[in-house]
Amino acid sequence: MRGHGCGPLLLVTGLLLGSASAVPSVPSSSCPHPNLGQRFDYVIIGGGTAGLVLANRLTENPATTVAVIEAGTFPEEVHGNWTQVPMYAGNFYNTMDPMMWPFSTTPQSGLLNQSRPYFRPKAFGGCSDINSMAYGHSSVGAHQMFADAVGDNSFLYDNMLEFYARTMNFTPPDNQERFANATPMYDPNDTSEGGGLAVTYPAYAQSWGTWLSVAWQAIGIEKVNAFINGNLLGHSFHMNTVNHTTGFRSSSEAAYLRPVVGRRNLALFNNTMAQRIVFNGNKEAIGVQVGANCIISARKEVLLSAGVFQSPQMLMVSGVGPKALLQSLDIPVIADRPGVGQNLREHIVIYISHQVNMITGSELEDPAYLGQAISDFNNYARGPLASVGGDQMAMEKIPAELRVNFSTVTNQALDKLPADWPEIAYAFVPSAIPSSFVNSSVPPVPGGNYATTVAVLFAPQSVGNVSIASSSNSDPPLINPAMFTHPSDVDVMLAGFKRVRQALASSVIGPALIGPETVPGVQVQTDEQILDFLRGYIQPFQHAFSSNKMGKADDPLAVVDSRGRVFGVKKLRVIDSSSFPFLPPGPAPQIQVCKCGRADVGIVC
Ligand SMILES: Cc1cc2nc3c(=O)[nH]c(=O)nc-3n(C[C@H](O)[C@H](O)[C@H](O)COP(=O)(O)OP(=O)(O)OC[C@H]3O[C@@H](n4cnc5c(N)ncnc54)[C@H](O)[C@@H]3O)c2cc1C
Ligand SMILES: *[C@@H]1O[C@H](CO)[C@@H](O)[C@H](O)[C@H]1NC(C)=O
Ligand SMILES: *[C@@H]1O[C@H](CO)[C@@H](O)[C@H](O)[C@H]1NC(C)=O
Ligand SMILES: *[C@@H]1O[C@H](CO)[C@@H](O)[C@H](O)[C@H]1NC(C)=O
Ligand SMILES: *[C@@H]1O[C@H](CO)[C@@H](O)[C@H](O)[C@H]1NC(C)=O
Ligand SMILES: *[C@@H]1O[C@H](CO)[C@@H](O)[C@H](O)[C@H]1NC(C)=O
Ligand SMILES: *[C@@H]1O[C@H](CO)[C@@H](O)[C@H](O)[C@H]1NC(C)=O
Ligand SMILES: *[C@@H]1O[C@H](CO)[C@@H](O)[C@H](O)[C@H]1NC(C)=O
Ligand SMILES: *[C@@H]1O[C@H](CO)[C@@H](O)[C@H](O)[C@H]1NC(C)=O
Repeated sequence: MRGHGCGPLLLVTGLLLGSASAVPSVPSSSCPHPNLGQRFDYVIIGGGTAGLVLANRLTENPATTVAVIEAGTFPEEVHGNWTQVPMYAGNFYNTMDPMMWPFSTTPQSGLLNQSRPYFRPKAFGGCSDINSMAYGHSSVGAHQMFADAVGDNSFLYDNMLEFYARTMNFTPPDNQERFANATPMYDPNDTSEGGGLAVTYPAYAQSWGTWLSVAWQAIGIEKVNAFINGNLLGHSFHMNTVNHTTGFRSSSEAAYLRPVVGRRNLALFNNTMAQRIVFNGNKEAIGVQVGANCIISARKEVLLSAGVFQSPQMLMVSGVGPKALLQSLDIPVIADRPGVGQNLREHIVIYISHQVNMITGSELEDPAYLGQAISDFNNYARGPLASVGGDQMAMEKIPAELRVNFSTVTNQALDKLPADWPEIAYAFVPSAIPSSFVNSSVPPVPGGNYATTVAVLFAPQSVGNVSIASSSNSDPPLINPAMFTHPSDVDVMLAGFKRVRQALASSVIGPALIGPETVPGVQVQTDEQILDFLRGYIQPFQHAFSSNKMGKADDPLAVVDSRGRVFGVKKLRVIDSSSFPFLPPGPAPQIQVCKCGRADVGIVC
């Protein structure tokens, strides 16, 4: 399963020798690999979630040559089946892992000046190698807001359906493998077949999710069809980007790269760090520098897909960004674009844990149980390892009775959101939360099963930024999501925390709980105590977006237009999670990155 039959540099020689033009020709002897000095139609920076979709769609035309520059390599080369077996995703919550970028946030003023780890893979597939595999659409109202913000009606929900469909190859679930009370609800008419990602419901459902389902109902959050119909309000099991037959994760590497690695018009540069975008005197992007003197040339365009932190970093070190900042680092300014790195948004999350009287992921700490789980997965693609963990989500607007203390500022901010935009989401982790994340007030019982229910802010008003400390991409970007700094975020998270407690106090879920809440614990009661807990332990939900904001030409903070084209320069697009006008609500930003590909480079999803 590990072999993909690829040589070190998956380059096809001969075909790719470009026509002569004004591009400075670099002797290939100065490149780390002789073929690196070549010329392609498109050069994609970052072989992550979005970059590989672009690479796949662009090379459908055999006459179009494409290079992908990726700092990492095939994840299977580094970690065998960790990116394939859904439950192993948790192994990557470790910024010291060789397949992860060593990123953490700057000290967060909203979180007692603490910093937080930020998980970004360095590998083909990017975040889609490790994410929670929830597949969904955003809401109709969020799409309307998107279209209005960027002045392009092609982002309306109905106009995007065709592109959503192109992401989905749906297989119905095996309901007899799941518990009877874990049969998912979806409208088959909303699904589609033949798209890029394998989508199904996993063969294993978490017991805790079935209990939460009843608890959400008890506090007034109705069970609804899968979140692939423009509605996000209610609770439902997640569709997952997973292959029904193998049980393997359907990452962008598995779904969009592997099937086409043999294309002669596609060149992959793995373990290759893009250093800077090269412009000519007309401010046209003409290539990407990778070694001290090596340039991979782009005949048509450079496509930047290095993700929410490294795409703005790449623009800045290449001379596109806030002028004063670039000048302070001696970076020659190509275009003064003050919005580069601004407008960073993040979903934030808080954890509430219990010991529970059912099997959860905690049981995997038992070697015998784990052995059986491995065998079940290897032989039948089922059992607990077939689940990525939290397999269900509830979303709502905070109900009226918990809004009474909301400040005017909060109400003004939230009133601007569409009626179908959930302010808060509730999800779960089928285990205790690692002590490095949250300090349990009750010591864990050895062998006990734990479950952690989480509240996630889906209407964040805090706005952060990404900056740079030097002119070198080898230094990590300065990541400042400014978490928990806006009063609205404080009000909504406080209310969301209380909603989780309401659900877990409902009589229907009582029989599932053993003893009192373990995190944060019953000693946390007053609003002030809850706020202290939130400030101490809120984490990013790893959904950062919008640091190269898409917008209209007259918006001084806009970085790209509605086709991803960077304002102020030519032949350069940003197509990834950074190039959204805002962070949309919903479980699935990974799918939405495809939308920007609907640019006139002729591809999408
Ligand atoms: C733990 C976790 C759980 C998540 N859960 C979900 C979920 O359930 N559902 C969902 O839809 N979304 C989820 N998300 C969010 C979603 O996965 C991301 O928003 C999305 O995948 C980001 O895609 P991207 O293409 O913008 O960036 P990435 O996928 O991060 O790709 C960027 C790529 O660029 C490469 N790169 C960067 N700089 C350079 C350089 N200088 N030279 C060469 N290469 C470079 C990186 O190595 C990387 O491969 C989750 C994310 C995480 C981390
Ligand atoms: C690319 O990956 C292969 C393994 O697939 C590895 O052997 C090779 O060293 C990598 N290439 C570079 C340039 O590091
Ligand atoms: C955080 O740092 C700022 C600036 O250094 C300081 O004013 C503030 O008191 C600090 N807050 C906490 C909770 O330590
Ligand atoms: C699905 O579509 C078919 C054909 O349009 C229709 O007859 C059927 O009622 C639809 N099913 C649902 C659940 O809406
Ligand atoms: C799942 O994987 C198998 C084996 O690689 C493949 O034949 C099949 O097409 C995949 N299914 C989907 C829905 O992608
Ligand atoms: C994953 O790979 C390891 C190492 O090759 C192997 O022992 C294991 O059986 C594989 N499958 C699972 C589910 O861990
Ligand atoms: C409103 O604030 C008061 C004072 O902090 C608090 O006692 C009360 O519980 C709050 N009400 C709600 C619904 O949050
Ligand atoms: C964890 O909680 C205990 C008990 O409340 C406290 O003494 C300790 O200082 C806390 N540790 C951290 C890192 O917050
Ligand atoms: C980022 O935001 C912080 C405040 O949260 C501010 O101090 C800093 O100057 C900003 N940096 C940039 C580059 O905008």
